[in-house]
Amino acid sequence: MEHKWKTIIEPFKIKSVEPLGLTTRAERATVLERAHYNLFNIRAEKVLIDLLTDSGTGAMSAAQWGGIMVGDESYAGARSYYNFETEIKGLTGFTEVIPVHQGRAAEKILFGVIGGKGKCIISNSHFDTTRANVEFSGAEAMDFPVKAALNFDKPAPFKGNADVAAMEKFIKAKGAENIPLCVMTVTNNSLGGQPVSMENLKAVRELCTKYGIPMFLDCARFAENAYFIKLREKGYAGCPVRDIAEEMFELADGAWMSSKKDALVNIGGFLALNNKDWSAKARQMLILTEGFNTYGGLAGRDLEAIAIGLREVLDESYLQYRIRSAAYLGEGLLKRGVPIINPPGGHGVYVNAKKFLPHIKPENFPAQALACALYLEGGIRGVEIGTLMFGKRDKNGKYLAAPMELVRLAMPRRVYTQSHIDYVIEVFGYLAKGKKAIKGLEVVEAPPILPHFTAKLKPAK
Ligand code: F0G
Repeated sequence: MEHKWKTIIEPFKIKSVEPLGLTTRAERATVLERAHYNLFNIRAEKVLIDLLTDSGTGAMSAAQWGGIMVGDESYAGARSYYNFETEIKGLTGFTEVIPVHQGRAAEKILFGVIGGKGKCIISNSHFDTTRANVEFSGAEAMDFPVKAALNFDKPAPFKGNADVAAMEKFIKAKGAENIPLCVMTVTNNSLGGQPVSMENLKAVRELCTKYGIPMFLDCARFAENAYFIKLREKGYAGCPVRDIAEEMFELADGAWMSSKKDALVNIGGFLALNNKDWSAKARQMLILTEGFNTYGGLAGRDLEAIAIGLREVLDESYLQYRIRSAAYLGEGLLKRGVPIINPPGGHGVYVNAKKFLPHIKPENFPAQALACALYLEGGIRGVEIGTLMFGKRDKNGKYLAAPMELVRLAMPRRVYTQSHIDYVIEVFGYLAKGKKAIKGLEVVEAPPILPHFTAKLKPAK
């Protein structure tokens, strides 16, 4: 009999390497000061382990690089487009496939077609760019996460789920005619990269059918979600992940994807749907802002790499390694007394800075302070999701406490090895021991829109 080994290894070998940005603590202190304590202002080569995002930061496979070389760059009707279209149709079953340069371009186009004043989009949770594009169209974006999602400490298998009863109550009050779309974000990025169960997707589908509302998936991390279903949902343990993913798409009327995540590429996206009226209008917008129907703001080689990535991502040894790496990081942090959204998400770990640094007041940005300390001590870059990112102020300009203070450690796909993660855990252990010394920050200047990208800060007095 074949022995079942306990160690889960990275299921790839490395063909091409890049040096990491090695710096000293003294150097990093200067870098931080010059960057005004905003990690978006740091040159990437000064970062040792970059966990800012899992978007577009993954390593492509040799097969994908091969695809890049044979990409067809014809303006219209490129062979690479048809490879891309065939792959997406095969996976999702949707008949209309529209390429875009990244996820938010699909959002801009879709909500340009179906959004507008008086309309409301409902969701388990809109990602930031989704919300921004819904609101830019004049419509409103309403989130209905389950209550379990907001209890960070208590693990639950499907914290990405939507609260179906709350959704129904809202539909009745608002009027289904004013709700052109329900979008299920898989996995739920805004609330910890947590998965949505098939049972919940089915319940939301039923609700949408009852009220005649189309349901779409924001499927940036569909493969991670499908793998969680295999691991955690009754009846799916023996199912191939590809079948689970297909079943998720079967429940929906359409989807859009930032392919920079689970298509394992550095740029790209698509909108896929069955509604011919919406797709005709979307293609008009596409030609105006993205490009012709068969390339949509991408090079032919990008389309080729996406087609290959969408197959590779459903490889179960890849997904096992992927989900295990985030869990390993999460478990390591918990062991060192660092509170996280528990369980760890699919694409990374979200550290609860509010609980970790209770001595820092919200107006002194505990999550931003932790992100800066992480860089100073270890050269690690994460991202604040808290009072600075939400950016709400009272009339005197004082920052209002955000509902959460998190530092997201997002893991690029196939980029870092277990020893990189061991290092991150060690740095956190060090921070945990001296956490009282971590001081808050104050804003020197910040723009009103999306302040966290360009705000300037300094250590608080
Ligand atoms: N939807 C989800 C769930 C996302 O996570 C993102 C991007 C988008 C849409 C937008 O896609 O970046 O290709 O335009 N998330 C990145 C992140 C930026 O860091 O989580 P995009």
